[in-house]
Amino acid sequence: MTPHIMGDFYRNTPSGVREKLNLLKEATAARGLPLELSCAAEYYLDEWFLEKLEGPEDLLSFGGDRKFLLIETSYINEPAQLRQHVFAIQAAGYTPVLAHPERYTYFYGRLDELLSLRDVGVLFQINTNSISGYYSKGAREVAKQLIQRQAVEFLGTDTHSMRHTRVLERTLAEPLLAQALKLPLLNSTL
Ligand SMILES: [Fe+2]
Repeated sequence: MTPHIMGDFYRNTPSGVREKLNLLKEATAARGLPLELSCAAEYYLDEWFLEKLEGPEDLLSFGGDRKFLLIETSYINEPAQLRQHVFAIQAAGYTPVLAHPERYTYFYGRLDELLSLRDVGVLFQINTNSISGYYSKGAREVAKQLIQRQAVEFLGTDTHSMRHTRVLERTLAEPLLAQALKLPLLNSTL
């Protein structure tokens, strides 16, 4: 699970998220559900982000020592400091993983620019439901191009509610998903 951490809006903290994870683990154990649960977070790159990165508390990453850090930006406005943020993340010992690269409309028509983030070490996680066009035609198209270019390291469900789970059932039938699952994804290494 990767809850949002975003400025004043989603004021989650690593300790707060871990606390909720423990409650959820207890609840699933009490009901005998065989679930393996772990947490990280999805960090929104805003003016508060560097403060968190430079602060005393470790950020919530995943993948053990590989320290994958899931990051996102505004969907519509290109952040002026995206590359500086990427550099700072790497300098702090994390590996940036860009959440849903297919959903940033400011990169539409600029696929090479989006892909150039990979040249500086950014990994990509696409949303599984982008594959069936759940978000938009544009997101589906970019997801398709990223899959075809093998520019995807992770698939994420980005499940916010049961609604998304029901869409996932539909996505399962997509040939493009089968194609994505043939890529050397890192999901299975977590
Ligand atoms: Fe997101």
